[in-house]
Amino acid sequence: MLAEIGQNIEKCKSILQSDGLVAIPTETVYGLAANGLNQTAVAKIFEAKNRPFFDPLILHIGKISQLDQITSYVPENANQLMQEFWPGPLTFIFKKSHLVPDLVTAGHQTVAVRLPNHPVALALLQQLDFPLAAPSANPFGYVSPTCSQHVFDQLGQTIPYILDGGKCAVGIESTIISFEIETAPKILRLGMITKNDIEAVIGEVQCEISENSNPKAPGQLDQHYSPFCKLRSIDELNLQNSNLPHILFYSPVSASSFWLSHEKIDHHPIYLTQKNDLFEAASNLFSILRDFDRHQIHEAFVQMAPFDGIGMAINDRLKRAMAKRP
Ligand code: TXA
Ligand code: MG
Repeated sequence: MLAEIGQNIEKCKSILQSDGLVAIPTETVYGLAANGLNQTAVAKIFEAKNRPFFDPLILHIGKISQLDQITSYVPENANQLMQEFWPGPLTFIFKKSHLVPDLVTAGHQTVAVRLPNHPVALALLQQLDFPLAAPSANPFGYVSPTCSQHVFDQLGQTIPYILDGGKCAVGIESTIISFEIETAPKILRLGMITKNDIEAVIGEVQCEISENSNPKAPGQLDQHYSPFCKLRSIDELNLQNSNLPHILFYSPVSASSFWLSHEKIDHHPIYLTQKNDLFEAASNLFSILRDFDRHQIHEAFVQMAPFDGIGMAINDRLKRAMAKRP
């Protein structure tokens, strides 16, 4: 049976209430959702994604008051950040309550929580009396989906329903900040909400973005978000050399066009943004990585974004996408 793509929130509710899986839109990427308080439902997520059990999930809620159910302690500075950035692409890690199953947290005493800023997701979440556990709706290690078709392409045979909410506006996963230790909040994953944005509200925070396997945020494994297309850095090329590889994505110009392709002698620019807009670049990134695979492009060259603001998060994803598959 193939997944249905639609906007039927009642249908999603009934699937989720009987411990099934539904893909949901969010402003960052599409999530693969199940009842986050039910171990049997959550287990289906790991199976569908082929995700290792050591990698914990984010619980999505529809209103801030739901935090009481799933956390045991929320520090004051975290509250300030929530007021500023929720609903939005910021995930918090707090001490968990006894109601959160071990499978969600991979046995940790902490739980990741997010109130997403997407009208369709919120409409669904606000009608449920449980939070939704939802990792990105892609097979483990692959690029996250930013539209319903991306989900269908990979999980269409595995899940019954994909709730369509259009193209994801942000396009890269949420920033993650841990409040495990009250006094020292720590950013574990970069996203649209930057360290500067956070520090403007609560003062100095640490950043611990791991390049390799990290037991704290295992989704931060090196070589994540990887397309099959081999991505290499533009720095490896001498651009004056006429002996160009078959296909090249590269921008010699500026942030406005990171990538452009040389196919034989023709140049086919592929722009993440033509307006020098890094937010637009982020929202197009995963879709373009998927296009490479769809068109069976074997190799592409990449120019990094400027190391500033959301450019840091874009570069983080590019770096992981460039890491070798095992
Ligand atoms: O934007 C997003 O965050 C998307 C949408 C669907 O909300 N979700 C997402 O989920 O990116 P996922 O599972 O692909 O990434 C969640 C990350 C993983 O790196 C995981 O290791 C980390 O959150 N994480 C979850 N719970 C954690 C915890 N208790 N401690 C540390 N890291 C945790
Ligand atoms: Mg993911």
